[in-house]
Amino acid sequence: MEISRKFFGKTKDGFNVYAFTLKNSLGNYITLLNYGATVQSIVIKDASGAGRDICLGYDTLNAYENNDGYLGACIGRVGNRIGKGIFTLNNISYQLAKNDGDNHLHGGNKGFDKYVFDVSTFGNAITFSRVSPDGEENYPGSLKVSVTYTFNDDNQFILDYHAVSDKDTIVNLTNHTYFNLSGEGDNDISDHLLQLNAAYFTANDQACLPTGEILPVSGSALDFRLPKTIGQDINLNEQQLINAGGYDHNYVLDGQGMRQIAAVSSPKTHLSLKVYTDKPGVQFYSGNFLTKRTGKSGSSYMKRSGFCLETQYFPNALACPDFPSPILRTGEEYHFTTIYEFSN
Ligand code: GLA
Repeated sequence: MEISRKFFGKTKDGFNVYAFTLKNSLGNYITLLNYGATVQSIVIKDASGAGRDICLGYDTLNAYENNDGYLGACIGRVGNRIGKGIFTLNNISYQLAKNDGDNHLHGGNKGFDKYVFDVSTFGNAITFSRVSPDGEENYPGSLKVSVTYTFNDDNQFILDYHAVSDKDTIVNLTNHTYFNLSGEGDNDISDHLLQLNAAYFTANDQACLPTGEILPVSGSALDFRLPKTIGQDINLNEQQLINAGGYDHNYVLDGQGMRQIAAVSSPKTHLSLKVYTDKPGVQFYSGNFLTKRTGKSGSSYMKRSGFCLETQYFPNALACPDFPSPILRTGEEYHFTTIYEFSN
């Protein structure tokens, strides 16, 4: 296992950003940036031995700073949406930024995706950490947060999240990698076969905000319990799909503790991804809002060029009494792990 480091650029406010590459003994590698603790590339050999870069990203820091879409980034403090940007904790109401129509999304105006993290490396792992000060984006508590990325010889990319706050607060960290198992730049993940171990999902309103209702996937386009292509039902005339322009839903994952939650494969490269997590939910997002842009090596990206599986607490949880609580009490430890495992 080797970790190498290369200068990637300087942010607009003068911080140095480096690209760190974790290479395993099979010759597969993952490149990470200390800007946004971002996953910049994931290169896995297909059965013929050719390396395929299977995540969307950019070649320049400038592109990361100027584009939307959160490509590959660590999302915090709270991933996904909070209705009207308001939550109440210990009888105090906090007004967060409304940066997605009337709602708060992915940490606000300047989420973790736009910060430069501290770095430490050991063995085959790299830890990105930062202290998010009390009141940052109006969230309470000074939050010490770290994400450790490990890439092992079983082609498992392990994302290990820790956080601790000096005041009661809410936390929901995730990663926003867009995968395309046919190789980034191959435009359309509709042909990918997906299986999701979830019998229920949280219903969305027209702004993709969970209403609090938990519905069975059975009989709807959202049912991925048996493998089917992402594209098979995506254009059905169902209200949940119309609301999101495709899939952009939180699935209520079956079971508890660390378990396999999803499997995806490309019919073109036969590369596959299995996802494991100990979190209660996952946002399956079919890249509906990804606008046209230029990615790595001149690739062009657009709607459906990638899909995301963002492991998480259910969005809008404080407004929805049946959802697991994302509250982190003073001094308690937030600790979750997600594994993306690749094979050819
Ligand atoms: C998440 C959301 C989507 C969209 C993307 C970023 O996956 O659920 O609705 O906001 O992030 O574009």
